[in-house]
Amino acid sequence: MIGKDNPTPKEGKTFFIRTFGCQMNVHDSERMSGLMAEAGYTPVSEASDASVILVNTCTVRDKADQKALSDIGRLRSVAEDGHSRHLVITGCMAEREGKELFRMVPDADLVMGPSQIRNLIPLLEKVEQGSHKVMGRDLPPAPLITPPAARPPGIMAYVTIQEGCDKSCAYCVVPATRGPEISRTISDIKKEVEQLVREGYREITLLGQNVNAFGIKEGTSLANLMRALDEVEGLSRIRFTTSHPRDMSIDLIRAMKDVKKVMPHFHLPMQSGSDAVLARMNRGYTRKEFARWIEHLRDEIPGIAITTDLIVGYVGETQEEFEETLSAVEEFSFDGAFSFIYSPRPSTPAEKLEGMPARDVSVARLNLLQKRIEELVHKKNSGHIGEIIDILVDRADPETGAVFGRAPWFQNVRAQPSFPWDGPSIRELLPSQGSIARVRITETTRSGFKGEWVTELAVGIGL
Ligand code: SAH
Ligand code: SF4
Ligand code: F3S
Repeated sequence: MIGKDNPTPKEGKTFFIRTFGCQMNVHDSERMSGLMAEAGYTPVSEASDASVILVNTCTVRDKADQKALSDIGRLRSVAEDGHSRHLVITGCMAEREGKELFRMVPDADLVMGPSQIRNLIPLLEKVEQGSHKVMGRDLPPAPLITPPAARPPGIMAYVTIQEGCDKSCAYCVVPATRGPEISRTISDIKKEVEQLVREGYREITLLGQNVNAFGIKEGTSLANLMRALDEVEGLSRIRFTTSHPRDMSIDLIRAMKDVKKVMPHFHLPMQSGSDAVLARMNRGYTRKEFARWIEHLRDEIPGIAITTDLIVGYVGETQEEFEETLSAVEEFSFDGAFSFIYSPRPSTPAEKLEGMPARDVSVARLNLLQKRIEELVHKKNSGHIGEIIDILVDRADPETGAVFGRAPWFQNVRAQPSFPWDGPSIRELLPSQGSIARVRITETTRSGFKGEWVTELAVGIGL
């Protein structure tokens, strides 16, 4: 418990969640919010108004740990007002550290990993009843039922379809924090998506640590799920992340091609362009095999955007090996990439390997790589200027006529009307949230494109 044993700040039970890490964690927070709301807690936007503070942590790199710990420190300072609050630490760092976290954060009340989310309320009840230092692991993992999720309003929603990882990349902590691969059933997912469409969501992003391993163990596939979701009336767009090169299949590429709701974007982490590094990482594919999937994707789905993840400064990475990553970035002409400096993680096989490049060498490699990626992406995006694309309208501003959404690929788009926006009656032309607007790309920006939206109606009335 943080703070003195005084009454909680607001009448009743309230909660505040801070989230770090990947989209899976973002959605886990939505699930925890759903469970908390169901149990009678009200969400608040300031930690100081909350009777329960939850911090959903990430531990993929050391920086993630540091960010979460310093944030916990900051959140604890809200208790200086003298009110008592319960502090819950969840997520991947909580799973990895376990009991150790109580040493680092002595006033934490509950530490639980992602597999315990479905037990959040019974665990919190123990805390509310006065138990100290409650561990999620004290309860057996709850069955894989989908908790209710409280998503932010809008048109885009995350849907977790697969959890865990059976791969064993030498550098990665995720298999230890998220457990083995497990998938939900297609019928369960379809029901959730149908409900989301009834609530007004139009685009879903299917999430999994290895999303294209979906259903393999259970005798189905992501391709089958795509075909099943194609039948959901009112659903406009389907996206998915993150795929693993080892779980690629021709059937998945065909399903993407056939199901028009699936957007032409594939996130496929390469990590390194060097076969020797890929082998030391235990990624299970070569650069050539990776190249073949890129080729299949581009052959079958012309214009598809392909994005990736890259690691530099891996144990033993030589200058030549790093340059192979640079050359792969040129060769595959990615539409975007997240790149990181390798961060040794506790209890991973790579942690024990010797031969880390010097920190300044890795920093220089990362800077060089990011600069090159930026140039290549800018060049690639510039090639889209003049094209007409459909965006799913996320937000439209009646004052200025500006419309916001995402390109079919993935980039953010801001579009102005292609005609003067004056007079109140013209507002009727504004595309509504959730509708499709036709946009001519006029400019590239850091995060995507600027453009002009065009409407046949406007053309019809002579604008
Ligand atoms: N399952 C996905 C991604 C999981 S983590 C996959 O295999 O592609 C997201 C990204 O973080 C990884 O793709 C990798 O680029 C990066 N990452 C994971 N562990 C890391 C580490 N120890 N140091 C630096 N980057 C890491
Ligand atoms: Fe980590 Fe590799 Fe699993 Fe991705 S596939 S989560 S990088 S172990
Ligand atoms: Fe981080 Fe866990 Fe996601 S370690 S990246 S929150 S799976």
